[in-house]
Amino acid sequence: MRTDQPKVIHLKDYQAPDYLIDETHLTFELHEDHTLVHAQLVMRRNPDRSSGDLPPLVLDGQQLELLSVALDDSALQAGDYQLDADHLTLQPKAERFVIDSTVRIHPETNTALEGLYKSGKMFCTQCEAEGFRKITYYLDRPDVMSRFTTTVSADKQAYPILLSNGNPLASGEEEDGRHWATWEDPFKKPAYLFALVAGDLWCVEDSFTTLSGREVALRIYVEPENIDKCQHAMDSLKRSMRWDEEVYGREYDLDIFMIVAVNDFNMGAMENKGLNIFNSSAVLAKAETATDAAHQRVEAIVAHEYFHNWSGNRVTCRDWFQLSLKEGFTVLRDSQFSADMNSPTVKRIEDVAYLRTHQFAEDAGPMAHSVRPESFIEISNFYTLTVYEKGAEVVRMIQTLIGAENFRKGTDLYFERHDGQAVTVDDFVKAMEEVSGVDLTQFKRWYSQAGTPRLQVSEAFDEGAGRYSLTFRQSCPPTPGQSEKLPFVIPVALGLLGADGADLPLRLEGEAQGAAGTRVLAITEAEQTFTFVDLPKKPLPSLLRGFSAPLKLDFPYSRDQLMFLMQHDADGFNRWEAGQQLSVQVLSELIGQQQRGETLAMDDRLIHALRTLLEDDSLDQAMVAEMLSLPSEAYLTEISEVADVDAIHQAREHARRAIAQALFEPLWQRYQTNREISRRTPYVAQAEHFARRALQNIALSYLMFSERDAVVQACLEQFEHCDNMTERLNALAVLVNSPFEAERGKALEAFAEHFKDDPLVMDQWFSVQAGSPLPGGLERVQALMGHPAFTLKNPNKVRALIGAFANQNLVNFHRADGAGYRFLAEQIITLNALNPQIASRLLAPLTRWRKYDGGRQALMKGELERILASGELSSDVYEVVSKSLA
Ligand code: TRP
Ligand code: ZN
Repeated sequence: MRTDQPKVIHLKDYQAPDYLIDETHLTFELHEDHTLVHAQLVMRRNPDRSSGDLPPLVLDGQQLELLSVALDDSALQAGDYQLDADHLTLQPKAERFVIDSTVRIHPETNTALEGLYKSGKMFCTQCEAEGFRKITYYLDRPDVMSRFTTTVSADKQAYPILLSNGNPLASGEEEDGRHWATWEDPFKKPAYLFALVAGDLWCVEDSFTTLSGREVALRIYVEPENIDKCQHAMDSLKRSMRWDEEVYGREYDLDIFMIVAVNDFNMGAMENKGLNIFNSSAVLAKAETATDAAHQRVEAIVAHEYFHNWSGNRVTCRDWFQLSLKEGFTVLRDSQFSADMNSPTVKRIEDVAYLRTHQFAEDAGPMAHSVRPESFIEISNFYTLTVYEKGAEVVRMIQTLIGAENFRKGTDLYFERHDGQAVTVDDFVKAMEEVSGVDLTQFKRWYSQAGTPRLQVSEAFDEGAGRYSLTFRQSCPPTPGQSEKLPFVIPVALGLLGADGADLPLRLEGEAQGAAGTRVLAITEAEQTFTFVDLPKKPLPSLLRGFSAPLKLDFPYSRDQLMFLMQHDADGFNRWEAGQQLSVQVLSELIGQQQRGETLAMDDRLIHALRTLLEDDSLDQAMVAEMLSLPSEAYLTEISEVADVDAIHQAREHARRAIAQALFEPLWQRYQTNREISRRTPYVAQAEHFARRALQNIALSYLMFSERDAVVQACLEQFEHCDNMTERLNALAVLVNSPFEAERGKALEAFAEHFKDDPLVMDQWFSVQAGSPLPGGLERVQALMGHPAFTLKNPNKVRALIGAFANQNLVNFHRADGAGYRFLAEQIITLNALNPQIASRLLAPLTRWRKYDGGRQALMKGELERILASGELSSDVYEVVSKSLA
């Protein structure tokens, strides 16, 4: 906990380390009421910083009880070193030396889930970013890379499985029922990639033969009751390994690759070398317990962590300001993988919807920061949508600008040149520049300037001359610490549609010939005009195809033009986008009517467009489902100047009801056809099946508005007789949000009774209820906090109940009396002491106070102030609260 003023760390202060650690030999003695850690560090002075006297050695360490420390075998006395809350400082006598230390730690009381801790009955670690310093005294920074050997000893009966990074070296028995195992990792790595696991675990085994013919053992370790939920993760792992060989030329490098599933985990998963540790929600999946979305999430996270073996581990980050070097790039890689395994257009739609709703909101709030931040108080607060998701978009733009072939040459050069090194974003960009000959100096502003740019586009047509001009004006709003922004390099992928909807040949003024299809313009100026020639009739532009840059685009499309694009645009993403823009226009009109107290009257062109889609059997059903999904309340909030939560909810519900009524017949037909196929097809986790169930489920949610008995019966039939969680949970959600109280209560009870022993399913049960916009939402959530399956100590539970309420149940969370805010603040104050990372993440909805009316602003700020005054705050919570109030 913070007692003095928190320290701000700046990128500009980076200095290489004075000392390096060539070898790290660790011994862990695990006991029920303490753990002893012995560390032997074989060290030398950094040759790059070798002038002058030997500087003091400052090792990081927190919450460690130092039992002994020796320098080159001679024990140090109290006066030979200094200890403070965060460091152990001593004076080396020679260029090369060995430090031995022994500390006592308490994993059994570690609720922060950082360092060594217990999840249920098992021991596990989480060291990224700065958790290793809670395990032993060390140079806990990513540019210090070392070869590790690790010996773990524990009671054999309680902890039969003892794991660490690398390959198993030796193992044996001890007296009094204990045993030990030694692991050796041949690759140098920073301490944040260290891992240890001890527990009573079962494993699913498989193997993978690499392109060069090496055999790799694959193991997924889980608690015994979960052994039947590993196959999907194993299949995903093998597909990831093959894909990375084929698409990026990257082979795996150890003889064994292990994944361990733990129930208590702050994030999704962690890429520790050879021993990935996963939130069980990101590993376990089978038809009966995990939805299609959960299956796809498992596939994506398994791939993400596996891909880190090259983008993160073999080539790592010099310092934590470079976090997006590994995260942005790896998110791009996992999204390309998921696109290849499933539907590329649907994957792009999901990613863009997520980015625009959540990252854009972050970029417009008090925690806005650039993809490479300039400073931080607590690095854990910078594992953000900006570093991950926008970071992936930035790498994607590089690929768009230099072309896929050059991009692959660039990644090859990057991996080869920097293998075994800790490098920067500049090193990555330099490799891309060298292979392509493209100067990316100005492009790099995407790494240093925060905020979401706006791109305003206007058109001019000279019919006599056949010239069509597009003028682009870019701007970017100020963000904390950055008042002035310089122009970005913006890749705009576009096409021009003719009257028949086909792409016209594009010839820019001055070019010899044109070509049909999409082309990429690179906008570099604040204002820039491009003129196309040979156009006898005015074309309709399709702009920013595939969302080629992460920005807000303005073009004055009419609703008829949007309907035309919805049907004809050659780019699938832009067909969806045209539908979203049409929906936003229609919904904005309804929101205005609601606010003025008028009767709501909806433009029925939206219904007409949706009917056309529903009646076309040739379309990808997943796309139809995406098109039927109206922009979320959270997205409508993000694009509002001042968000009127109640009007947004009323307007959106009105539109859904109107669509449901007008399109009852085609929806009912689609529902019945798809449910019938689901009934006779066993569950398969594949794209075409996801598509069928997606359309079936969104159809059901619309149909329920009718309150017709046939629909209620269909919903109950699906709930009771389906063979998978996708159909069951959707039917449950539809009932929970319906006016049928008796059916709702019965379904909730039956579900909980059946799944009470499966914590991941109970998380979904909590979430469905926490997200329900029906009145009384806060009281329902408060009651559920007392449910026996709920605990504040498990992050998945916190996210499922409190997180879902504050982020997805906007009408109830933003109750005008502020009770939702007060409830959240109370939970954050409790969690601040238990788990600072989770407490800090829960703050996000309160940080957005500027979006709301004066009354709500005051209430939200009041709660932030209350948290600030509540006592000793962790650096995590302090940073977010203080920046939000600044
Ligand atoms: N490197 C992990 C990933 O993105 C992130 C991570 C896992 C993490 N656990 C964490 C970050 C705990 C901070 C704290 O794959
Ligand atoms: Zn990652």
